[in-house]
Amino acid sequence: MTDTPSLISPILTTNLASERPPLMLGIMASGSGSNFVAVARAIDRGNLNAKIAVLVHNKSDIAAIDRAREREIPTVLLDHREYRTRAALDRAIVSTFEAYQVECVVMAGWMRMITQVLIDAFPGRLINIHPSLLPSFRGLHAIEQALSARVKITGCTVHVVTLEVDAGPILIQSAVPVLADDTAATLHARVQIQEHLILPEAIAILARC
Ligand code: GAR
Repeated sequence: MTDTPSLISPILTTNLASERPPLMLGIMASGSGSNFVAVARAIDRGNLNAKIAVLVHNKSDIAAIDRAREREIPTVLLDHREYRTRAALDRAIVSTFEAYQVECVVMAGWMRMITQVLIDAFPGRLINIHPSLLPSFRGLHAIEQALSARVKITGCTVHVVTLEVDAGPILIQSAVPVLADDTAATLHARVQIQEHLILPEAIAILARC
C-alpha cells in the first residue's frame, strides 16, 4: 500500500486530543489486509485513538493474517463453510468480538453478507468500506461496474452497515478520477490509496461519538 503520512486530516488530528481510552476495534477481512494496515498505521502514528483487539478472517490463506501477526494482533479464523447459516457465523463473530471486548467493528474487505445478528450486537458501530461512491455500484465487483458504466469519477465510501447491502448511512467518501487507460487493477490501486485515508477518518468519527 502507498504510505501517505503527510495527508493527516483535521478529523484525525482532533482525535489526537482525546483523553478517552482507546476505542477497541474488531476488524473483519477476507483479503490482502491493506485497509487493516492503514488502520494499524494510523494508530501507530498516534493519529487514531484506537486499538485493534482482534482480526477475524474467514479464509486461512489470506495476507491479512500475516499483516496482523507482524503486529502481534490476535487472529481468529471463522470459516463460513463450517456454519450452516449466515446467522450462525455471525453469532460466532459476535462471541469472538465480545471475548476481545470489541466496541466497534470494521468490515475491511469482508466479502460475506452479514445478518441482523451482527448489526444488533454493534448498533451504529459496524462499518464497511466499499470501493465506489455509493449509492453507485453496490455489491460485488464495484471497480469493474464503474469501468463498464464508463463513469469519469468513482471512489470509495465508508458507511454504517444495515441489512441492505452497501446501503447504510454514509460516514465519509472520497472521489477518484477514472482514466481513459484504466484497468480494474490500476483503478482499484488508486481507489485503495483513498480507502487507506478515509477508513481511519471514519473510525475517528466513531471514536469521538
Ligand atoms: C477493498 O478495496 C474494499 O473496498 C473491498 O475489498 C477490498 C479489500 O482490500 N471491499 C468490498 O468490495 C466490499 N464489498 P484489502 O484486503 O486490501 O483491505
